[in-house]
Amino acid sequence: MNPLPVQDHTIASPTASGPTGRLRVRVSERVTEAADVISLRLVHPSGEQLPTWDPGAHIDIEVAGVTRQYSLSDAVPAPGSWRIAVLREPTSRGGSRAIHATVHAGTELIASAPRNRFPLLPAQKYIFVAGGIGITPILPMIGEAERRGAEWSLVYGGRKLDSMAFVDEVMSYGDRVTIVPEDTKGRVDFSEHLRQVLDHTLIYACGPAPLLDALAQASNHWPTGSLHVEHFVAQEIDSTDDVEFEVEFAASGVTAMIPPDRSILDVANDLGLPTLSSCEEGVCGTCQTAVWEGDADHRDSVMTDEEKASASSMFICVSRSKAGSRLKLDL
Ligand code: FES
Repeated sequence: MNPLPVQDHTIASPTASGPTGRLRVRVSERVTEAADVISLRLVHPSGEQLPTWDPGAHIDIEVAGVTRQYSLSDAVPAPGSWRIAVLREPTSRGGSRAIHATVHAGTELIASAPRNRFPLLPAQKYIFVAGGIGITPILPMIGEAERRGAEWSLVYGGRKLDSMAFVDEVMSYGDRVTIVPEDTKGRVDFSEHLRQVLDHTLIYACGPAPLLDALAQASNHWPTGSLHVEHFVAQEIDSTDDVEFEVEFAASGVTAMIPPDRSILDVANDLGLPTLSSCEEGVCGTCQTAVWEGDADHRDSVMTDEEKASASSMFICVSRSKAGSRLKLDL
């Protein structure tokens, strides 16, 4: 018996696209990729094609009542299947632990259609940086850089070599790849890798917050827009000075106050408004909502600082208004 609560969900067509598209997928293969990391190959239960995707895309997986996001990780997209990798995180809300404990070849899961908040922009050269399980969105980017004929290099850091997934896969690219296990080589020295600003070069990185912070510091002399990052853990949010503010849900004709200890998403859900959400931590991008008026205080881990400065939308699971000002939203 499948131990997962998949039978309670309404399943859309497997060709559905967009944030509401959900589909049933079957695990065709489970592989141990490193200590505490497994990969799952997902296929359509009836052998139909799964929706296509671009490097940087992720899907939601619902398991044990928790929805988590996983990057699609094939270096070369495989027709008819997706690969994700799952790190067992003892401190997680349970999604990754449940997958490790209960998901095997043959298990059926509920997934979303792919979404991409981390697209690979055109460039002549790329510097890829991965920390731990952050290698997963980087693998398809490497494949795409190869197909585009772009120059690229990869710095891949992790705690220990045996905790780092897909090392053999990336090592097959030769000396463009630098593997840095912390227990034998120490932490990655980004100041060395990024000292020289390279023309026509973009930096793409995914990993834990300390790695991304160190990278941002080491690249702050690079042109604005050079660094593109994806957080797989939400950035810490300081909510000590949060105040109440008013939101007009313009599309619904409803106005409500948002208390200091509740999110816009919470209040909108209480009002029965047609929200979309998944992570509720400002990581996945599902709850993006257009801002018609007002000054948003962006607290998500999706947008870059440059994007936040000119954004005409916000992620209502975490973001609020600046200084308690009024917001008018397209909801
Ligand atoms: Fe994931 Fe808001 S629900 S960013």
